[in-house]
Amino acid sequence: MKIAEVKEHKKEYLDLLLLADEQEDMIDRYLDRGKMYILDDDGVKCECVITDEGNGVLEIKNIATAPESQGKGYAKCMIDFLVSTYGSRYSILQVGTGDSPLTIPFYEKCGFVRSHSIPGFFTENYDHPIYECGVQLIDMVYLQKKL
Ligand SMILES: CC(C)(COP(=O)(O)OP(=O)(O)OC[C@H]1O[C@@H](n2cnc3c(N)ncnc32)[C@H](O)[C@@H]1OP(=O)(O)O)[C@@H](O)C(=O)NCCC(=O)NCCS
Repeated sequence: MKIAEVKEHKKEYLDLLLLADEQEDMIDRYLDRGKMYILDDDGVKCECVITDEGNGVLEIKNIATAPESQGKGYAKCMIDFLVSTYGSRYSILQVGTGDSPLTIPFYEKCGFVRSHSIPGFFTENYDHPIYECGVQLIDMVYLQKKL
């Protein structure tokens, strides 16, 4: 298994990116300025995109594991990689996500705790309502992990 940075043709992984962020023009807001990594284990299983948000904050903008490979520890492995690679250069690893039972428990398992939220982020920035588990996502919930 290896994790490598993707510097060009990041849209080759659009299928995975869209799993975590279903509107492509929202992905375009961070894809170029972000650093992208893929985890390869006999094929690409997981990707993530991170950005430097200043003041020692590193943000995960997108993380997704291929559907048939979920629940096998790949995304946790990606988080561990970020912590070991960036832990000495940043003080906080944060992520913004919908208030959904599909994502929040994963981050909590990885040691993130809720910090703040942006009310109405999903309703104001996406061109259509986004549902997860039958619940409409409204606010962006931020979770943070100390590095
Ligand atoms: C969220 C996601 C990235 C997790 O990836 P994954 O590779 O399946 O996660 P892992 O197998 O590394 O899980 C790590 C831990 O979190 C737990 N976990 C993952 N998803 C969970 C969920 N929905 N509910 C409860 N626990 C969950 C796992 O059981 C595991 O716990 P363990 O260490 O005790 O075994 C994956 O489900 C995904 O790609 N979802 C679609 C895209 C998305 O929503 N991305 C996040 C939005 S930014």
